[in-house]
Amino acid sequence: MAPPGFDSKDYWGERFATETSFEWLAPSATILEIAAPYLLGDAAPASGPAPSSSSSSSSSPPPPPLRILHLGSGTSDLHSHLRARGFERVTNVDYAPQALVRGRDLERARFGDVRTKYAVADLTRSSRSLEEDLAAADAEEEAAAAGGGGAGGGDGWKMAGRYDAALDKSTADAIACGGDGALRVLAENVWRCLSAEGRGGFWISLSYSATRFDDVRDLFEVQVVRKIPTAKAKPTDPDIFYYGYLLRPKRAGGRGRGDEGNEGS
Ligand SMILES: C[S@@+](CC[C@H](N)C(=O)[O-])C[C@H]1O[C@@H](n2cnc3c(N)ncnc32)[C@H](O)[C@@H]1O
Repeated sequence: MAPPGFDSKDYWGERFATETSFEWLAPSATILEIAAPYLLGDAAPASGPAPSSSSSSSSSPPPPPLRILHLGSGTSDLHSHLRARGFERVTNVDYAPQALVRGRDLERARFGDVRTKYAVADLTRSSRSLEEDLAAADAEEEAAAAGGGGAGGGDGWKMAGRYDAALDKSTADAIACGGDGALRVLAENVWRCLSAEGRGGFWISLSYSATRFDDVRDLFEVQVVRKIPTAKAKPTDPDIFYYGYLLRPKRAGGRGRGDEGNEGS
């Protein structure tokens, strides 16, 4: 059982007052490696049409850059890893404002500027408030860009409901400490945020739990795509794994893309 506090905003606020950089469960390179086939469109989808790929006809226009939601970014450098791989349309979301300060610092230290986006938002709030928070962050950053500061935006990118991918490294774990209801709201929010267009949308999650998403299978096709053995103190210790999940939004259950914002949570 996880220690208490991981579902408390105060816990994270206090932690980030001094913590400048920390990776939960595994380095960012690990989740990026799990996500890469899906981000690059090389993996076969669970269902639906084949994704476009770099091997498609030279007359096809290149697919637009993916819009990625980084859930509970904390003081991880995952956004920098994504940017280094060419993914700049990343929105880092955390409900602890200091986490986003740390995120910007990490990005600036590595690249000399800030191009990914940062949104203070509670992922377990109702979808409408979350979308408002994300849209407000988008508007703020675009205004800054128009004023000459920062980059990104300005290309008609509407944040709410239009992400191609969501990534989380142990954020679902932290939120699950608040009970099944909290995880359910997170899942509903991510379901709504993922685009129905293009590659169909997917969520890659790295978790310490083998059952993390059992209760949201009505919303997502849930697949374990990687099991990562953890270090043992003694050879006789039991095998313990971290789980790399691929979640693809289901269209079934009466949930169409027109449902956004209609359901309270
Ligand atoms: C276990 S840490 C993981 C941080 C980072 N993803 C990593 O791999 O190092 C969980 C993160 O989720 C954030 N978080 C927890 N509950 C949240 C919520 N309801 N809304 C937004 N962020 C939340 C915390 O502030 C913290 O940054």
